[in-house]
Amino acid sequence: MSSSNLVLCYIMLTDSYKMSATSNYRFVRGNTLGKKKRRNRSSNSYYWLSWHLFTCEPAFFFFTVLFLVFFDCLVLVVMAVIKGPFLVFTLATAFAGFIGCAVSYDRPLARKDISMPQPKELSPTSPQQVHISAVGPDRMRISWITESSAPAIVEYGTSPVAYSESATGSTSSYDYLVYKSGEIHDVVIGPLNPNTVYYYRLSSDSTREFSLKTPPADFPIKFAVVGDLGQTGWTNTTLAHIGQSNYDMLLLPGDLSYADFLQPLWDSFGRLVEPLASQRPWMVTQGNHEVEKIPIVHSTPFTAYNARWHMPFEESGSNSNLYYSFDVSGVHVIMLGSYTDFDPDSDQFKWLQADLRKIDRRKTPWIVAIIHAPWYNSNSAHQGEPESDLMKESMEGLLYKAGVDIVFAGHVHAYERFTRVYNRKADDCGPVHITIGDGGNREGLASEYMDPMPEISMFREASFGHGQLEVLNATHAVWKWHRNDDDVSVVADTFWFRSLSSDPACKV
Ligand SMILES: [Fe+2]
Repeated sequence: MSSSNLVLCYIMLTDSYKMSATSNYRFVRGNTLGKKKRRNRSSNSYYWLSWHLFTCEPAFFFFTVLFLVFFDCLVLVVMAVIKGPFLVFTLATAFAGFIGCAVSYDRPLARKDISMPQPKELSPTSPQQVHISAVGPDRMRISWITESSAPAIVEYGTSPVAYSESATGSTSSYDYLVYKSGEIHDVVIGPLNPNTVYYYRLSSDSTREFSLKTPPADFPIKFAVVGDLGQTGWTNTTLAHIGQSNYDMLLLPGDLSYADFLQPLWDSFGRLVEPLASQRPWMVTQGNHEVEKIPIVHSTPFTAYNARWHMPFEESGSNSNLYYSFDVSGVHVIMLGSYTDFDPDSDQFKWLQADLRKIDRRKTPWIVAIIHAPWYNSNSAHQGEPESDLMKESMEGLLYKAGVDIVFAGHVHAYERFTRVYNRKADDCGPVHITIGDGGNREGLASEYMDPMPEISMFREASFGHGQLEVLNATHAVWKWHRNDDDVSVVADTFWFRSLSSDPACKV
């Protein structure tokens, strides 16, 4: 074989690799009967290849070797000898097309809602749907529901069954069309020691004991972050992965239960998340699925959300459960409301201005903001919505001037990470925007992306999953996005942050 033929063979092999690598397809795994959709992934072909080679896809390696090394090379050598350039091109394209078909991908389909009925062993006064949220630096709100009347009392201590402390709170309920909620209990306990496990029982019911761990007083702290959770088979595996992560606090950027007016689904969601939400503080903000407003017959928005998920808004000077802030372990977290007023003369805007002015970066070197509708988004879904565009227009300057490090959003059922950005351009002193609306809801994934990928978008993928933000110290944090395809948690995107407050180039 002449040297020119060897070179030609090498070039064709390389081209075949590139063609298949940039085709955004994956090898068929598992069920092949589902609807086929293209996967958008990082356009980096080396990433694509390594992803296939190192994430349990030996069949990909087999096909690559079989077709590209032996068959492809043999035919190309023959064609090179024949010196028919057109035929070479046609066959090489055919090979690439064949491989493209072989690696086409069946995206995981949406899974059905999980119904979590009340366990039969629970009595009408047994606590259920237990979840906790942080209140100030050393207190915790315990929220739970009983079917019938029961005392709003929490007994707690640092040893099982031995409860040295107790606290009482309030009970409420709400009506929604023909639905009447159970008794919703709300008790704040503390002061509590940081990074400490407490055991507690509720409504004097000795059949169920719960435990919780308080967040650490200082770094490091690990947040689990997940939006658009819903209650499907995908939600179940996402929750299982979060449960394995040893996180300190969960941040949820809206769209919790996907009850969508069917109030018993709020109860089902409460039971589904209780194993995790009763153990670690779950800090949430609202999404469009929480509005549940029906003209004339139920004109009050957020009825179920506000009644069931009381967040610490009073402590941060807010007059609404829809936006609030808190400090935890050196991080100032701001929860904003995408579905309440946000224009410059709104209460939320004025509250945000005042809240940002109060931040002491020596005490909280990091600022994280949470919204529902993303301000930056290159997915085809949810483009041009006022909750994204107008809220960004109103509030982006405030967050930028305050030196907010990260903005998490949900709403789009996929994952996307942008570079530091402000006013649609890369800016080293702007926040990193991350869309993490991929918890597992029943509407499925948002699979279509704008093409070409914008330069400010660093990584995007339509897969279920969740994220973990570990803030290590005042200057550095690491973000890991865990993909949830095939029910296995795989770290698919990692990014190291340096806090803006530690960057002398950013006047924070
Ligand atoms: Fe949403």
